[in-house]
Amino acid sequence: MLRFLVFSDLHLEDCTDGLARLDTILRHAQEEQVEFIVSLGDLCFPTDSYSPVMDRLRSCGIPVHHTIGNHDVQDWDIADSLRFLGKLRPYEAFEAGGYKFIILDTCYWKSEAGEFHFPNKQRIPSLYPVLPQEQLTWLEQQLSDGKKYIIFSHMSLVNPFARRGIANKEDVQKLFAGKDILLCMNGHDHGSDLKWVNGVPYYTISSASQFCWWGGDPPRVENLFYKDPLHVIVEVDESEIRILGMESEFAALKPEDVGVYDYRWNGVDVHPIAQSQVLPRKK
Ligand SMILES: [Fe+2]
Ligand SMILES: [Fe+2]
Repeated sequence: MLRFLVFSDLHLEDCTDGLARLDTILRHAQEEQVEFIVSLGDLCFPTDSYSPVMDRLRSCGIPVHHTIGNHDVQDWDIADSLRFLGKLRPYEAFEAGGYKFIILDTCYWKSEAGEFHFPNKQRIPSLYPVLPQEQLTWLEQQLSDGKKYIIFSHMSLVNPFARRGIANKEDVQKLFAGKDILLCMNGHDHGSDLKWVNGVPYYTISSASQFCWWGGDPPRVENLFYKDPLHVIVEVDESEIRILGMESEFAALKPEDVGVYDYRWNGVDVHPIAQSQVLPRKK
């Protein structure tokens, strides 16, 4: 059985207790002796003032695999973010426990002029993220070796709500057809969700820190922090995948305080939980 820990959207720049949150996550990973840790992006701004984040991740004694999130490249080039994270490539694959793990970089958008990586220096609102052609070609190659795959991305590969997921969902799903895709996991939506599409489970993990709400007139942003740093441990064996989640509480403001009464927002569930799930493996 293979076990790994996944967290996402720590957004250290928004938190006063982000390092303590990270310490709690890393302590749990050490106690549970997981094989590796995956960050699904939006970790922190890639500047010297956040270097204690990387110091902790580098010294925790467990390999950490990073996914690029839009806030990791909000005001910086991808090269700056890669340097900060100690990552060689924005998308990559690795193997562990007989499985192949593929980390995508979904922080692109497309216009008539071509495909561009964030940052969105013009601050164009409502950009629709996309998995660019170069990465689709690479992904197709990666999926050609008959292995069992688990896919990580920052943006959802299936969420159709308000341009949260990538625009070219069908292109990716076509590449998955006939392949043994055990699980896809993403962050970015600051809520939780599970969708099955063509026999593939797509799991969205809540932020480790907060439900980030925006709206109102005049427009404003509210960070609704959780008391605990949400994260999951994933166990994979021959018969099933177990996602071991956790529950927390809102520390102060709750969704109803910003007018979200049904706890659904941007296509996800914004209860302060990281959903537990038991997913049967495809036969
Ligand atoms: Fe985020
Ligand atoms: Fe994000």
